[in-house]
Amino acid sequence: MHIPVMLDECLEGLMTDPSGIYVDGTLGNGGHSAAILEQLEEGGRLIGFDRDLDAIERVNKKLKTGDGKRVELIHDNYANMAAQLDRLGIDQVQGLLLDLGVSSLQLDRSERGFSFQNDGPIDMRMDQTRGQTAAELVNTAEESELAHIIYRYGEDHASRRIARAIVEARAKVTIETTAQLAGIVERAKGGRKGKKIHPATKTFQALRMEVNDELASIEQVLEQMVARVAKGGRIAVLTFHSLEDRLVKHFFNRHGPREESLQQGGVRRIYEEPPVKWVWKKMKMASTEEQSINPRSRSAKLRVVEIGT
Ligand SMILES: C[S@@+](CC[C@H](N)C(=O)[O-])C[C@H]1O[C@@H](n2cnc3c(N)ncnc32)[C@H](O)[C@@H]1O
Repeated sequence: MHIPVMLDECLEGLMTDPSGIYVDGTLGNGGHSAAILEQLEEGGRLIGFDRDLDAIERVNKKLKTGDGKRVELIHDNYANMAAQLDRLGIDQVQGLLLDLGVSSLQLDRSERGFSFQNDGPIDMRMDQTRGQTAAELVNTAEESELAHIIYRYGEDHASRRIARAIVEARAKVTIETTAQLAGIVERAKGGRKGKKIHPATKTFQALRMEVNDELASIEQVLEQMVARVAKGGRIAVLTFHSLEDRLVKHFFNRHGPREESLQQGGVRRIYEEPPVKWVWKKMKMASTEEQSINPRSRSAKLRVVEIGT
């Protein structure tokens, strides 16, 4: 089961025109998409993306109820969104939703290799039809590259120690399973020491982000879509850790109005084209009630911008 996070807040932030075209860049289990569809009236359309073929097949069964024109599902990286919209002959849309990261369905299936809680082969690719697996990465990358990835995407200060331990372990036997890798990282960090969070959590996050080139894809889709969301339309992004959230916040701040000091005193506002504006002054978090029901929502942050106002 994947419970859609901050569903009401996402809809409130995103939906401005019930007969518009909406894009869900991260279909997952289709929870947010189903709710968007429910709000759409005559003429409204939903275009959904996921890099995971399982997600496309699942949502296809769930949402495509014969009316082919209303829902279009695309198996691709959302980094290719503009080209895919071109292919469909769509120039502008009214809204884009991104619910970043992995779904509970991906985490729970041991054969996907995202989690050390469910032992399986270390795959971690969201799109299993292409690209390098995390097993290939941990067994072939240089020690310095592994340390760099774990530091950059996991922000783990023990990155060098972990990379050294991985390289030493793989010299004896190929690292194949998530439990094997979690054990290596745990030992390199001196055990659990009573901590609630497993010592391998940040390393797993880092490898997943590298294998799927996650931050670059987010930057690319935002860059394309600020130009493709119509005036008055919205972009809503749900992030789950600080690296994602910082990227999204800085991206929209860069595209918002800036102030320039004038020689004669005072300031002048300079607007990027198209200008974007925060819909809420601060990001929103899940209610305490939602956090108690759905642990995944505890780290969620929702940011929404409006285009061209
Ligand atoms: C958190 S889940 C979305 C859950 C969904 N909102 C729901 O309510 O069921 C994120 C989904 O986005 C997909 N995804 C992540 N990065 C992607 C990318 N760059 N391009 C396309 N899909 C991506 C993942 O495969 C995963 O299925």
